[in-house]
Amino acid sequence: MNCGRCSMYGGIKLFSGTSHPALAQEISDYLGVPLSGREIIKFPNENLFVQLHESVRGQDVFLIQTMCPPVSDNIMELLIAIDCLRRDSAGRITVVVPYLAYARSDKKDQPRVPITARLLADMIQIAGADRYITVDLHAGQIQGFFSIPGDEITAFHILNEYFAQKQLEDVVIVTADLGFAKKGRNFAARLQVPMAFVEKRRTGNDNCSEALTVIGDVDGKNVIIVDDEISTGGSIANTVRVVKEHGARDIYVSCSHPVLAPPAIERLRALPVKELVTTNTLPIPPERMLPNIKVLSVGPLLAEVIRRVHEGRSVGELFNE
Ligand code: R5P
Repeated sequence: MNCGRCSMYGGIKLFSGTSHPALAQEISDYLGVPLSGREIIKFPNENLFVQLHESVRGQDVFLIQTMCPPVSDNIMELLIAIDCLRRDSAGRITVVVPYLAYARSDKKDQPRVPITARLLADMIQIAGADRYITVDLHAGQIQGFFSIPGDEITAFHILNEYFAQKQLEDVVIVTADLGFAKKGRNFAARLQVPMAFVEKRRTGNDNCSEALTVIGDVDGKNVIIVDDEISTGGSIANTVRVVKEHGARDIYVSCSHPVLAPPAIERLRALPVKELVTTNTLPIPPERMLPNIKVLSVGPLLAEVIRRVHEGRSVGELFNE
């Protein structure tokens, strides 16, 4: 690969776990750097084994692994692969985790509960990662759970640009959650359209949420509901219902992470949503694809960030920061 700049670690080495081969291949194609060989095996006793097919001594290694199902296996695979790279004397190890699981467990908001996002960050560091790259964390403060440097990038520009090109009229951006208001406002500002909020309340630990009311005007408007992820689809289903009750015209949904855990697909299928626009931070298995789901790739963006990290160049420049 011709980087145009020198790196103190020699060339880029790309490795991927087994979670998202298509995205890893896309990143590799964009960079013109092949995915390095490795073997990942699950023994009959369910223990995982990782072996590299080539030396990484002194190299700048980027390890791509998202946290889709089977989540625990994919996390263990990531940790074991980091350990393997560390023991094989990699010069620097950057984990590229497009979707960080457990991000909703980021505080003690009730008695006797863990902060699993912090635990995950600790495990990644203790395994031996030097840096991380991720996309749209559930809450920006999760960055602080890591003491290694990292880059949280956003897929919002990609999603936003898609809607800008559609040139919809009378649009209002709606956030499915007051906690998402700031990001929703940025989304609306870039499209130069107004916004509204749906007030949501979680009712327990079992993924149940209740949408209470709309703050703002959606009557007769084309609504784009934005959120960071769709997990079981409960929040989106409630938000769609509430904006419909308040007179919304066409409804679009946009989110960075298509977690799509059961029963999300059944819920989405039943909703009057014109298009769900998301990204490939997690793979969507064919049986969960619906005709109205549009997947935009974060592959080129992640590849460009990898290139810049390797060359020691600004990542913020990519977003005009
Ligand atoms: C919650 O705070 C997030 O922003 C999403 O609204 C949530 O993760 C979606 O979960 P579900 O699809 O299960 O309602």
